[in-house]
Amino acid sequence: MYNLLKGKKGLIFGALNEQSIAWKVAQKAYEEGAEIVLTNTPVSIRMGNIDQLAEECKTIVIPADATKVSDLENLIDKTMEHFGGKFDFILHSIGMSPNVRKGRTYDDLDYDFLAKTLDISAISFHKVIQVARKKDALNEWGSIVALSYIAAQRTMYGYNDMADAKALLESIARSFGYIYGREKHIRINTVSQSPTQTTAGSGVLGLNDLMDFSDRTSPLGNANADDCANYVITLFSDLTRKVTMQNLFHDGGFSSMGMSRRAMKLYEKGLEIEYRDIQNKAKKK
Ligand SMILES: NC(=O)c1ccc[n+]([C@@H]2O[C@H](COP(=O)([O-])OP(=O)(O)OC[C@H]3O[C@@H](n4cnc5c(N)ncnc54)[C@H](O)[C@@H]3O)[C@@H](O)[C@H]2O)c1
Repeated sequence: MYNLLKGKKGLIFGALNEQSIAWKVAQKAYEEGAEIVLTNTPVSIRMGNIDQLAEECKTIVIPADATKVSDLENLIDKTMEHFGGKFDFILHSIGMSPNVRKGRTYDDLDYDFLAKTLDISAISFHKVIQVARKKDALNEWGSIVALSYIAAQRTMYGYNDMADAKALLESIARSFGYIYGREKHIRINTVSQSPTQTTAGSGVLGLNDLMDFSDRTSPLGNANADDCANYVITLFSDLTRKVTMQNLFHDGGFSSMGMSRRAMKLYEKGLEIEYRDIQNKAKKK
């Protein structure tokens, strides 16, 4: 512990259960001296165990659907009431695609579902920031972080319409980062995280293979949820006051790689097996 967030106060969206990235961020923010408020949708509060986290971090949970502006207005008012004034950081750790959930592939999207994916996973970020700014909820030099994934830049088979949502999310960080930065020195960044075993992650087609591939490809291996939380804490701390409007890769080096020795070895093995099968088939003929 470094007391990196001593005296700071923050609002954390998206802690569903112990696997959630937001759960780890909340625990570490609290360990680093921050006071926090937790929020999630009423359904997720009922389904998950956020109350347990609230007890551990000696705080409250305020229900809010991040797609509903009225919920967000109530949330920001109540959070300010709880803190007795403005606060310093916000984590947006929210993602959901009804197309992914219902198994609709990218070439057969349901457009009502797509609208929901974009609203929940990206536009909600705009809504959170707009409401916070209108209510002047954040202290100068505050920090806002959302979680993204490299499918915003590169095609990752199976990530589906969430890729489009992440591209929009990262764009919102840049567009609002300029406005809020110029006005109040508030920084807005996205962290592009390695594939991680969580409830949202498990929805992605072939997550285990994807995790294995990126782990073999990255020189440092995949970053897990704890690693991610550590990184996010630095972004809430005063050590990163001039970092804004960035999409920051937190992925063990994956984003800069083409092919690694470990991945190539596996590929070679696959080719050997394929070649052997072809030879065996030819012999039988
Ligand atoms: N798990 C991964 O592989 C991975 C990789 C990169 C980025 N991310 C991103 O990290 C973030 C957190 O996901 P996670 O992996 O911790 O999974 P998670 O399932 O634990 O968290 C997703 C959260 O979104 C919340 N949510 C859904 N709809 C909401 C709404 N309308 N209003 C408010 N909250 C809502 C859920 O209740 C849940 O708490 C997401 O943005 C996800 O896309 C995840």
